[in-house]
Amino acid sequence: MRTGITFDDVLLVPKKSSVISRSDVETESNLTKKIKLKVPIISSNMDTVTESEMAIAMARSGGVGIIHRFNSIEEQVEQVKLVKRAENRIIKEPYRVSLNTTLDEIKYIMKTKKVHSLLVTEDNKLQGIVTERDIRFKHNGNTAMTIMTPREKLIVGNENTDLDQAKELLDKYRIEKLPLVDKSNNVIGMITSKDILNQTSKKATIDKNGHLVVGAAIGVKDYINRASALIDAGVDFLVIDIAHGHSDLALSALKSIKSKFDIEVIVGNVATADGTMELIENGADGIKVGVGPGSICITRIVTGSGVPQLTAILDSVSVAKKYGVPIIADGGIKNSGDITKALAAGASTVMLGSLLAGTDESPGEVLVKDGKRVKIIRGMAGYGANMSKQEKENIRSDIFDIVPEGVEGLVAYKGPTNDIIKQLHGGLKSGISYCGAHSIQGMQENAEFIRITGSGMRESNSHDISKI
Ligand code: XMP
Repeated sequence: MRTGITFDDVLLVPKKSSVISRSDVETESNLTKKIKLKVPIISSNMDTVTESEMAIAMARSGGVGIIHRFNSIEEQVEQVKLVKRAENRIIKEPYRVSLNTTLDEIKYIMKTKKVHSLLVTEDNKLQGIVTERDIRFKHNGNTAMTIMTPREKLIVGNENTDLDQAKELLDKYRIEKLPLVDKSNNVIGMITSKDILNQTSKKATIDKNGHLVVGAAIGVKDYINRASALIDAGVDFLVIDIAHGHSDLALSALKSIKSKFDIEVIVGNVATADGTMELIENGADGIKVGVGPGSICITRIVTGSGVPQLTAILDSVSVAKKYGVPIIADGGIKNSGDITKALAAGASTVMLGSLLAGTDESPGEVLVKDGKRVKIIRGMAGYGANMSKQEKENIRSDIFDIVPEGVEGLVAYKGPTNDIIKQLHGGLKSGISYCGAHSIQGMQENAEFIRITGSGMRESNSHDISKI
């Protein structure tokens, strides 16, 4: 019989480091085969962790959020749309004037709309552009036609121009604005260098149009309509979410989604090499690993089944690595040290529930218990979450028909998500440098785990002082 181990059973042996500052450490990692994150942290698809506000905060911080599925299709779609609308680096409806607009009118529009340039169009066809520089020394009597830079002198993009291409064009031609036109010269948008420079964060996780990336969970029953609506709303990837992911139900949902839609799909949860292999061979673009390690999980107690999380990660990685499919270590992460251990063991990203449940952006109110501010977290297989789901679906089953595999609890209120992610990310970067590496991949090559005892673990935490 093998022995399964988890994060507290090991430490990473420190290795000689050439890192001078944490900024020398790179943490980019794959979420799926195609999507990369600069900060390899995902907020869990739990109804007390991720709705649109959390997903926006996570993507702005360089990670990503997955909208939970314990809601109606319409509600989940609205959440996805809110995230996709939160950042707009391609102006879809640029302000415009016509050839006959007078200089006075142009000045007035620029002032009231607080813009420095206006497209000149006739019947939506691009004729030119007027910028503040063009009007500076011009006298009244001029119109857009006499002062604009005409269409033939403009550098433009088209419907396929993404932000990277736009940046190249803006830089190469030393221009500030890039109007986008279709084949018939109809205006379809504009990208400005200012908007690109004003990105909320250089590390934000964005799609090719500059919108924040977001994922959404679906189940293994009635999933086609939900998947289709989420894809129409612009979701970037789907997560097939089922407690026992190594199952016929999960496999058939995966096969059917992959055959019907062109979208990346993460599947979980599994805790074994066999489970990982079967999901990958049926098309999974990412595997979520963890059966029972979560803060609110009682699956192992109720069913007697599960694998301690570090062993589950190591076993899944042993297979996934051969296929180049990323592993998400989901559940049981209590601090940045656990994140480092999960990634050193070969996971590409980690998923967090309780560490993010107490933030400003998690759903739910801040409550006060014993004079301390707290928020509620609840297991998605617990009574509370299941009762709410049934209520929404107008189902009312006997309370004893639900066999909960999760519990409800309280976590300390923690303030803004971005502050928590900064701390966790900083700890991870230091952890990578302790492993003598500059990147997650380097750490995975260098990592040497050492098994520790209970006394080793006690020694690891602060001890023999009275805590303030
Ligand atoms: P942490 O430890 O980060 O774990 O709070 C979050 C993960 O726990 C899983 N989860 C559950 N597991 N019963 C379970 O056995 C549940 O009711 C439950 N709800 C969430 C899930 O994988 C999540 O990301």
